[in-house]
Amino acid sequence: MKSLFSGMRPTGKLHIGHYFGALKNWKKLQDEYKCIFGAMDLHALTTSFEDTDKIGENIIDMIIDWLSVGLDPNKATFMIQSHVREHSELHLVLSMLTPLPWLQRNPVLKEQVKSLNLGDSFSYGLLGYPVLMAADILLYKSDIVPVGEDQVPHIEITREIARRFNFYYKEIFPLPKPKLTETPRIPGVDGKEKMSKSLGNHILISEPKESLEKKVMSMVTDPQKIRLKDPGHPEVCTVFYFHKMFNKEEVSQIEEDCKKGALGCVACKRNLAKKIYEYFAPIREKRAKYENDPDLVKNIIREGEKKAREIASSTMDEVREAMKMSY
Ligand code: TRP
Repeated sequence: MKSLFSGMRPTGKLHIGHYFGALKNWKKLQDEYKCIFGAMDLHALTTSFEDTDKIGENIIDMIIDWLSVGLDPNKATFMIQSHVREHSELHLVLSMLTPLPWLQRNPVLKEQVKSLNLGDSFSYGLLGYPVLMAADILLYKSDIVPVGEDQVPHIEITREIARRFNFYYKEIFPLPKPKLTETPRIPGVDGKEKMSKSLGNHILISEPKESLEKKVMSMVTDPQKIRLKDPGHPEVCTVFYFHKMFNKEEVSQIEEDCKKGALGCVACKRNLAKKIYEYFAPIREKRAKYENDPDLVKNIIREGEKKAREIASSTMDEVREAMKMSY
């Protein structure tokens, strides 16, 4: 079986965007690859080093979501990045052979500096974000890295770093390939292009009924449909977009009724809230089981880390040997 690594920064409970954008795909991949999935807490520090109170809780919440959607500890390995110290060690080694301009022209960095308003006072760690990612990926000799499109430049840098290591020392790293998910676009409840926690326009996978209803009722619809009887334009309506994902059975009827002014937005939204809630019911049930058994979750992580550490430390032995540093 080929190897696969992927990870997420721990932002706490995951939302529908994560589900369709990553988790569904990971679930499928766990049957096809030797998978390691990481809670990337060191990466989280690159942009929020000052606020670490919640990281622990966020990691557990995120991993519980992984388990609840059906990622299976008997198939895949779960770990916390900082707990497998080799990530830090390899990061440091790789930083020595990474030319600074590769990092300075990283488009993801530029984007982040702009969107987070960091000016030029961002950290050394943030600049090295792709080097740490390279360490994550190369430690497990991953062939494949499922990521969102925004992360592709980082995989490119990882490949460059691997190539450079292989050239100067010894051919030990396969060049990893990004694996993009074919996902439908997941808009926010405010109709913005992307669902995101930082924009506050998300619906959690585990969203409680009441707040789910509130969020769906607040969704933007066709601005030209003011009264029930007004003919609507489903193609511009966020609610309709979600019906296509969560309510395949009724979607063509809804389209027809909306267009001819036979279905009002309030009823249409109520129906959607119900469908989303039902869709995630089995996942919520599993979540409750794990929430009630924190030791089980911790054990799954500890076991995963043991496995990850074994691979990571054997790769580091190879690295040291290749670099003539096993004195
Ligand atoms: N940078 C990734 C993200 O924000 C998370 C991540 C860290 C990652 N290390 C990784 C993803 C290694 C894949 C492989 O989404």
